[in-house]
Amino acid sequence: MRRNTVFATVLATVLILGMVEARPKKVHQGVKKRSVDLNEVYSMIGQSRLPKEIRPLSYYLELQPFIKEGTFKGRVKIGITWVDTTDRITLNVHPNLQISHSDVRVTQLAPSKPEEAKNSSIHGVNVARTERHAKRPWYIIHLEQMLKAGSSCEVDITFSGNMTVNATEGLFRNRYTDSSGQQHLFVATYLRPNHAHKLFPCFDEPAYKATFQLSVTRPKGYTARSNTRVRKTEEAPGDSDTVWDHFEVTPEMSSYQLALVISDFESIKPSIPVNEKDGTNLDINIWSRKEYLETLKAVPDKIVAIVNYYQEYFNCSIILPKLDIMAIPMYSTSKPSDSWGLIFFKESELSNDGFWHIAHEIVFQWIGQLRTPFWWSDAPLNEALNSYLTSMATLEISPDELEGKWPMNALYSLYYEFGKRFPFSRVNGIRQDATASKTELIFRMFNYTLGKDVVQRSVRKFIRDQWEENSKTFFADDIFTYLNNAANESGKLMEGLTLNDIAATWITRDRLPLVTVTRDYETGNVTFSQEVYLRDRPQDPVERGKYSWDIPIVMVTQDKLDFSETTPKLWLSKDGDRQVTIKDVTKEDSFIIVNPEEIGMFPVNYDSCNWKMLAEFLQGPEREKIPVLSRAKLLHDAWNLAYAGDLCAAVALNMTLFMKNEKSHVVWEPVFAMIYHIGRQIEGSYVYLKFEAYVRTLLKPIYQIVGETPQQGEPSWKTHLRGLTKNFLCRAGYEPCVQEAREQYKKWMVNEEPDAGNPVANEFLCPVFKWGTNDEWEFGLKRVINFPQNCLERKQYERTYLLKTLAGCPKDASKIEKLLVETVLGTNSNFTDADIHLIFSTLTGSATGYTTLFNFLADYWDMIKLKFKDKKHLWDGIVNSATSSFNTQEGYDMVSELYVSRQGEFETADTIIEKALKSIQEETQWSEKNLPVIDAWLKEHLPKEDLDAIEAANATTTPTPPALAG
Ligand SMILES: *[C@@H]1O[C@H](CO)[C@@H](O)[C@H](O)[C@H]1NC(C)=O
Ligand SMILES: *[C@@H]1O[C@H](CO)[C@@H](O)[C@H](O)[C@H]1NC(C)=O
Ligand SMILES: *[C@@H]1O[C@H](CO)[C@@H](O)[C@H](O)[C@H]1NC(C)=O
Ligand SMILES: *[C@@H]1O[C@H](CO)[C@@H](O)[C@H](O)[C@H]1NC(C)=O
Repeated sequence: MRRNTVFATVLATVLILGMVEARPKKVHQGVKKRSVDLNEVYSMIGQSRLPKEIRPLSYYLELQPFIKEGTFKGRVKIGITWVDTTDRITLNVHPNLQISHSDVRVTQLAPSKPEEAKNSSIHGVNVARTERHAKRPWYIIHLEQMLKAGSSCEVDITFSGNMTVNATEGLFRNRYTDSSGQQHLFVATYLRPNHAHKLFPCFDEPAYKATFQLSVTRPKGYTARSNTRVRKTEEAPGDSDTVWDHFEVTPEMSSYQLALVISDFESIKPSIPVNEKDGTNLDINIWSRKEYLETLKAVPDKIVAIVNYYQEYFNCSIILPKLDIMAIPMYSTSKPSDSWGLIFFKESELSNDGFWHIAHEIVFQWIGQLRTPFWWSDAPLNEALNSYLTSMATLEISPDELEGKWPMNALYSLYYEFGKRFPFSRVNGIRQDATASKTELIFRMFNYTLGKDVVQRSVRKFIRDQWEENSKTFFADDIFTYLNNAANESGKLMEGLTLNDIAATWITRDRLPLVTVTRDYETGNVTFSQEVYLRDRPQDPVERGKYSWDIPIVMVTQDKLDFSETTPKLWLSKDGDRQVTIKDVTKEDSFIIVNPEEIGMFPVNYDSCNWKMLAEFLQGPEREKIPVLSRAKLLHDAWNLAYAGDLCAAVALNMTLFMKNEKSHVVWEPVFAMIYHIGRQIEGSYVYLKFEAYVRTLLKPIYQIVGETPQQGEPSWKTHLRGLTKNFLCRAGYEPCVQEAREQYKKWMVNEEPDAGNPVANEFLCPVFKWGTNDEWEFGLKRVINFPQNCLERKQYERTYLLKTLAGCPKDASKIEKLLVETVLGTNSNFTDADIHLIFSTLTGSATGYTTLFNFLADYWDMIKLKFKDKKHLWDGIVNSATSSFNTQEGYDMVSELYVSRQGEFETADTIIEKALKSIQEETQWSEKNLPVIDAWLKEHLPKEDLDAIEAANATTTPTPPALAG
C-alpha cells in the first residue's frame, strides 16, 4: 500500500544520510494524489479561453474507432445557444483532427422564446467559411448571417483522426499479453484537462457543461463502457463483426468528464449490497483483464464500503445509476484517472491493500464530477477538500490504516518549510503541494473548531443545493461561504469573523504563526500573543511582526483533561491586538495545553512554569490521559522552539524524559527528527559525545520493545520504528549494531569479485565508514573507483550512495582528506564534476566534514583555484561548503582569517563567504547560549559510567577546545 519513495518525511531523508533538507511532499502515507495533478492544473490556469458569445447545450457524438488501424471517424452534433449576437462559432479542435469544410453544417433550431417562434422555422444557416486559428487550437465557423442572443443552432461536423499509441492522451490504444502469449488490444480515453478536442470538436473548458449522448462501434466480443449505461445495442449495417452501442444521455457535464473504454475486459460485482440512495442502488462493477480478476476479488466490497460511507456523509447519490472501476493494464500515467461513473486505476493500485487511495478517487464522484471546479484555478481547493474527506473516511472505515501519520507527516513538513528563512527557496515546485496540504489542514481545523456536524451540513448543502439550482460548477471560495453560513447558523463563529477571511490568511501566506502563552501566577491572568513562526537562523526580527492570523485558541487544563471539547475559548484576530489577556482558565498548580491535537497549524510556547508542570505530568503515571497526537505535539514544539532559540534547551530536554516509558510510534517520530537536527547543530562541540551517550540511553529501551528482528505480519509502523531506532543507535555508536555492520561488510571484503555486486545492505555502510577501520573505508573507496561502467546489473545510484556514505560518515579527518586529495587534486578521471560537487555538499553534514574541507581549501588554495579556474560552480561550491556550516567562535575566527588573508582572491565566491560569516555569527550566539545549558543538563542526567568513559575518550583524542564549558 505504501509507496515510500513518495513519502519523504524528515526521517526518510535523514535515512538517506540526512544530507537533504526536509521538505513537504505528498504525505498521505505514501499515496500519490492523482485525481488532481496540481502541476497540470497550474499550467492550465493561464490558458486562452474561448469567446463567451455562445455556449453548448448538448452533444450527440458518434464514434467509430478502428482499433487495429489505430484510427477513428466520428460525427458530432452540438446544440448551441447564443449568449450574445455574433456570426461565428468558435470551437476547440486539435490541429491533428481532420475536418473538411464541406463536412460542416449549421441548422437553426426553434427559438427558446415561444413568442418569436411564430416568425421563424427551422432552417439551415449558410457557412461563409471556416478557418483554423493560427496559434490556438480553435476552429472558427463564420456564418453568413448574424444571430441574436437567444438563438439556437445545431452544428454538425464529421471528423477523423489517429489514436494516440505512444501516450495516455485523447483516445489512446494499448495492448496487453495474456499468459498464452496472445496480444489483446484495447482503447480508452484520457481527456483531462483539455484533451477532449483531440477526439472531437467541442467547447473544451470545464465551465461549458452540456449533456452527452454517445454512440460507438465496437467489435463483437468486446465491451464498451462509458459514463452512463448502454441504452441499446444494434448490428452495424453491412458489417457483421461490429455493433453499435448507444449510451444513455449523461447529466450535464464538462467535456473532459466524458470517458470511454472498449476492451475485452471482464467484470466482477460486490457481494454486499450498496445502500439505496435517491431511489437507486448504485450498480458497481470492477473490470480488468480476465487473468487479473482473481487478484481484485476483495476490491468490490471495499468499494461498496466507501460508496456507502460517502452516500451517507453527503446524503446524496452520485446521480448516475452505475459506477465502473477499471484496472487498466500498462496504464503508466500518474495523472488523474477519474471520470463520472467510470474510474481508471493502474492494476497494482487497485489490488493494493488499504482504503485511502481508492476512497480518494471515489470521493471525486461527488466533488469533482457531480460538481466541478469552475476553472482550473479552483481545482487545487477541490483536491485539498477531497484529501481531507478521504482521510476522514479512512479513519472511519479502516482506523488503523493511517497509523497516526495523518496529519503529522504533512504538518511537520509544513512547520519546517514555513519556518525557514526563505520558504521554498530551494525547491520551488513543492509550493503547490504545500499549499494543498495546508488547505487540507484548514478543513481539519474547521472540523474541530466548528464541529463535525457543521462541516458535514455545509458540505451536504454545497453538493445538494447547487445540484438542484442547476449550477454545477463552483469557485474555490464557495465552499468556505457554505461553511460560513452553516457556522453562523450554529452560532459557533465569533462575531466579525468570516471563514473565507480566516481561510485566506492561512492559505495565501508562506508562513505560519507561533502562539506564546504566558501565565501570570500572581494575578491569575493568562496572555496569548502571536508572531510569525521562524525556526531557522539567521532570523530577521522584523519578519516576526510581518503578519498576523485569525487563530482559534482551544485549551485543555490539567484538572479536567477533556480532549473532546474543541470549541475555541477565544480567537486571536488578525486585525486585533497581537496580544490578548484573559482571566486564567485553571488553578495555578494545573497546567494548560493550548492547541491540543494540532487543531490549528501552529506551535505553542509557554512560560517555564507551565512547561515544567507538563514535563512532570508526562513522566507520571497518568501520562496517557494526554492523547498521542498531543504528547507528540508538546515534544515536537518544545525542541523546535529550542532549536529556534525561543526556548531554553534544558526545558526541551526535560520534555524528552518521559520517552523512557513511551511506546507510541506517533510520539517517537519527532524524537528522531530532534536527534538529527539538534545533533547537527552541536556536532563537533564538547557536548557531542555526551549527547550521543544520551541518545543511546534514550533509544535502547524502545529498541528492545520493538525487538531486533521483524515479526511476520507486523504493522508497518513497527518495521519503520525499528529501522529508525536501529539507524540512530548505530550512528550514535551502539556497539552491537556496529559489530553487526562490520560483520556484514566483511562478506564484501572477502568476495573474489567485489565489483560484480554489493552484498551489503545500505544501512550497514555508514556505521562501518564511521566506526570501522581505515582498511574498510579504503575498500569502499576502491569500489567507487572501480565501479563498472555500462553494466546492466549495477545502477549508478549504488555508486552515488557509496560515494555519499564515504564522504558523509567518517568521523576522522584523514579519511576525508584522502578522499579530497584523490578526487579534487588527483588525476583520477573516475570522478566527475558532479561527484565532486556531491562530495562538497555531503561534507557540510558533519563538523569533521566541513572542517576538513575548510583546512583542505586553506592548505591547497592555489592548486584548487587553478583546478577550478573554469569551473565557477565548483569553486563557489567548495567555498560555500567549506565555510557556511560553522557555528562556533573558533569556526568564525578560522573563516574570517581566511577571508582576510585571501582578500580579493575569492572572486565569484566573495559574497558567499560574506554571507557565511554572518550566519556563523548567529549560529555562534545560539551555541554560546545553549551548549553550556545542554552540557550541564546532560551531566546531570547521564549515568556516571558514561560520563567517565567520555572523560577518558576526550583525554586520548584531540579534544575540541572546551572554551565555552562554563
Ligand atoms: C495519421 O496517421 C497516418 C498514417 O501514419 C498519417 O499519414 C497521417 O498524417 C496521420 N494524421 C494526422 C492528422 O496526424
Ligand atoms: C508520440 O508520437 C507523436 C507523433 O509521432 C510525437 O509527436 C509525440 O511527441 C510522441 N509522444 C510521446 C510522448 O512520445
Ligand atoms: C489581570 O490582572 C489584574 C490584577 O489582578 C487585573 O486588574 C486585570 O484586570 C487582569 N486583566 C485581565 C485582562 O483579566
Ligand atoms: C527540568 O526538570 C527538573 C526535574 O523536574 C527540574 O528540577 C528542572 O527545573 C527542570 N528544568 C527546567 C529548565 O525547567
